[in-house]
Amino acid sequence: MRTILEANSHDDIRFDILSNPEFLAEGTAINDLLYPDRVLIGGLQTPEGFKAQQALAEIYEQWVPKDKIITTNLWSSELSKLAANALLAQRISSINALSAICEATGADIDEVAYACGRDSRIGPKFLKASVGFGGSCFQKDILNLVYLSEQLNLPEVAAYWKQVVDLNEYQKKRFVSRIIKTLFNTITNKRIAVLGFAFKKDTGDTRESAAITLCKDFIQENARIYIYDPKVSEQQIFYDLSGPEVTYDIKDLKKRVTIVQSAYEASANADAIVVATEWDEFKELDFERIYKSMNKPAFIFDGRLILDAEKLKSIGFRVHTIGRANF
Ligand code: UGA
Repeated sequence: MRTILEANSHDDIRFDILSNPEFLAEGTAINDLLYPDRVLIGGLQTPEGFKAQQALAEIYEQWVPKDKIITTNLWSSELSKLAANALLAQRISSINALSAICEATGADIDEVAYACGRDSRIGPKFLKASVGFGGSCFQKDILNLVYLSEQLNLPEVAAYWKQVVDLNEYQKKRFVSRIIKTLFNTITNKRIAVLGFAFKKDTGDTRESAAITLCKDFIQENARIYIYDPKVSEQQIFYDLSGPEVTYDIKDLKKRVTIVQSAYEASANADAIVVATEWDEFKELDFERIYKSMNKPAFIFDGRLILDAEKLKSIGFRVHTIGRANF
């Protein structure tokens, strides 16, 4: 872009290139925009570049305190965007790797995350274990970093960051294996209620959602799945689930997949419930009612650690939570 713009500059019009990555997260974008942790403006280290950075900084200064506006060189700014997402995703993969150890030993991942997060050098955010991170950005940005590292002939660096994505895939597969093993080693023709399809709560976005991988695996294992998500459309779910691993034929898909309008509808006559997205409404469900409507034994797999496992057990559920053992 810079080459093209500079080639088309003349006395009356000239262009400066700035890098101004955004750090907005879905579901909190307006708040993130109004009260950013920082604003990053990268520019060329030339008098014109500094002037351009200053002009953009003045716009942000209308609502962002000056000390939160950081100016850097162009490459630092571009790399910081990738690095910030890679570091956030790395924390999730780290806690998810630990969740596997918890399940094997009897440690509780929420307790481990809390104990570690209380160290001010580590901090509590982005340490929630899950069935895996999703969204349009984390995986893309890490793979971008991996590609860049390979291009720069830094294979060890590339392998290091690639592992964050690999661990995320492993976490999803591990969860599916646990579900199948618990359901007596087969889910063929079993009815599974999938609660949540978005990649996180408070958004209808399904890009790279862990639920897609889970559901595709369930379909491949010939389960019958009933999906409920408060914000994702039926059309979107079928679009996400069609593909070479499963089928492109929506009619075929509909033999295995049903989209329903409530968690209760999804759970009726189900053999198992799988929580794939941490929607608040799932915490408020009437689980006594749900238990009565399910096949017995009634299994719940909490992929987001949002449900009160003790309460569910007292109702009669067999509860499996990521990062907790079932000895
Ligand atoms: C992410 C970053 O948080 C933003 O700062 C960035 O601007 C944005 O990507 C982007 O590059 O555009 P977003 O993808 O909207 O934002 O969502 P996050 O809140 O970061 O969550 C990503 C995934 O990680 C979700 O699937 C979420 O459920 C999962 N997650 C998050 C966990 O599994 N555990 C956590 O502790 C936190």
